[in-house]
Amino acid sequence: MKMFSVVLCVWSAIWCPLSLCAQELDVDRELVYCNQQMQRSLAGLRDAGGKIDYTMTPRCIGAEEERWTLRSVKTPEEWCAGFFPGILWMCGDTLEARRFTGELEYLAFSPVYDHDLGFIMIGSYLKGWEATHDGRYREVLMAAADSLATLFNPRVGTLLSWPRNVAMFGGHNTIMDNMMNLELLFFSGKRENYDRAVAHADTTMRYQFRADGTVNHVAVYDPVTGRHLYNCTHQGFGDNTLWSRGQAWAIYGYTMVYRYTHEGRFLDFAQRVTEAYLSRLPEDGIPWWDMGDPSIPFSFRDASAAAVVASALVELSGYVDAATSARYLGEAKRMLATLSSAEYQSRGRNPAFLLHSVGNMPAGTEVDASINYADYYYLEALLRLKNYLKGRGSEELSQK
Ligand code: GLY
Repeated sequence: MKMFSVVLCVWSAIWCPLSLCAQELDVDRELVYCNQQMQRSLAGLRDAGGKIDYTMTPRCIGAEEERWTLRSVKTPEEWCAGFFPGILWMCGDTLEARRFTGELEYLAFSPVYDHDLGFIMIGSYLKGWEATHDGRYREVLMAAADSLATLFNPRVGTLLSWPRNVAMFGGHNTIMDNMMNLELLFFSGKRENYDRAVAHADTTMRYQFRADGTVNHVAVYDPVTGRHLYNCTHQGFGDNTLWSRGQAWAIYGYTMVYRYTHEGRFLDFAQRVTEAYLSRLPEDGIPWWDMGDPSIPFSFRDASAAAVVASALVELSGYVDAATSARYLGEAKRMLATLSSAEYQSRGRNPAFLLHSVGNMPAGTEVDASINYADYYYLEALLRLKNYLKGRGSEELSQK
């Protein structure tokens, strides 16, 4: 009996994190939950006559609030305008997705405001293109990619992320979030856009990371000579701390760059930044908003970073050897299991999917809130995992 307990303990220590997650995470159930919450959101957007104002996007819900704060999408400053349409596309509500998406078309044909044009168009038009293969969506994406590409400075080798902040930073600024938006350049299929995206990824890899593989939020370059001047933070705790969503953008971004380029250096780097992140995570897989906040363990967690990383890890697990793949999938399941728990799901409290994200702590905005991009990447991660499990099922069947 004693021997049996020892064996059980050793077995549990090795297998429990994975098996526990596998038991707790029911992907289909969570997808049903997301669909129900999305329907609640749509119902809440309807006026007394049942009409929705498609120019207003659900952006966030404060910790003590129950309803979405709506933001106008008729300004390029609303960087989160693409995420709610993206959620609708992923939920298969084509009718409402088309209506919200259509309100963003003007952005592709206006002078680019900043790098966030990528986030806006990828969430809406790229998800719409994937769902429908509508030729107009491709045209809009091509125009948006060309517009985004005008931010590229060939002397620096990156896109200028925030044109409005050149004077504030004293130079050409590139933020880690910008890695995500390279997807629009790759998608366009144009050689010059491909080269710009690769140059951006290489330059960022060279200058914007610390020796331990953690990110700096902002890199500043001389726009004339292209020389790297300095790194700093904008949304993190300090210049030398790890802002979790910045690391999440890097993990997702380099994984996506590998998907389009198949260049081994980007796969190696995606793994390097992933390991730097995983080694600092608390047991439940949800990071503090900044890993260097001195008030840890009493600080805020960031569900949005966890959702971005979970989605990236499911993809990354498809590019690596079998043992690493199993580990990355186990980590993604652990993160999704926690996000799907009563502590992180909004459930009856509000119509978002998730609670506990941190938007901009230094500015004091969207702290411990529900935010639409957390929901978007959570849903994307669940769908990617579902597809992965479905693929593995058919592989196993075909081997029989
Ligand atoms: N792209 C802005 C953020 O991650 O908060």
